Amino acid sequence: MTAAADAVKLSKQQVGKAAAALVQSNSIVGLGTGSTTAYAIQFIGDRLKSGELKDIVGIPTSFQAEVLAKQYGIPLTTLDAIDHIDIAIDGADEVDPQKNLIKGGGAAHTREKVVDYLANRFIVVVDGAKLVDRLGSVFPVPVEVIPMAITPVMWAIEKLDGKPELRMGVKKAGPVITDQGNMVIDVKFDSINDPVNLEKTLNNIPGVLENGIFVNCADVVLVGEVKDGQPAVRQL
Ligand code: A5P
Repeated sequence: MTAAADAVKLSKQQVGKAAAALVQSNSIVGLGTGSTTAYAIQFIGDRLKSGELKDIVGIPTSFQAEVLAKQYGIPLTTLDAIDHIDIAIDGADEVDPQKNLIKGGGAAHTREKVVDYLANRFIVVVDGAKLVDRLGSVFPVPVEVIPMAITPVMWAIEKLDGKPELRMGVKKAGPVITDQGNMVIDVKFDSINDPVNLEKTLNNIPGVLENGIFVNCADVVLVGEVKDGQPAVRQL
């Protein structure tokens, strides 16, 4: 592993640990998806195992989160069995200064949006490379689409001046299939000036299930960084 990759891993671990420390006993916890949240799930499991944390249940945002929660001994429940979520911890692909997000690099943004928006407190965990001045600077917007509507949704996106690309699998021939059995179109926009409207506009295209723009929902953004070889976590 290169020194830069080591620093990113250390940042993700530290920020995951900081978020896990915010979880309190007797609470319902939304468990996000991705490599950063994976550390938070691991540390929540460690706190449960040591007895420091008691009586929590998790709501997973993906099959990945479900598998990790089981691996680390976190009991799970479903949205049918609870009436609120106390705290959700989730990663992001981009974060702007207003704490708006692009999510969905792991194709889990639909379930993530349901869980993260329901939480009384939504904690975002990122490494410093995810911070941007304007959404869409680096990352495309993931759009989950039902398979029969892929072509007309692509036409509609082109009319919005987006460049759509069907996400293809890695170590799997053909497109990525989401946990709901749909496909993902990644859309690159030259610049996203109005994320609030773009989120709504994309979701209004028939056949679109959900897109990865998250506005006005993050309560806290924790940023993991390595400075002078030392890991540090700061709040945005
Ligand atoms: C999953 O679909 C995403 O929203 C992730 O939360 C996001 O891609 C961040 O993932 P990493 O923590 O792996 O960068």
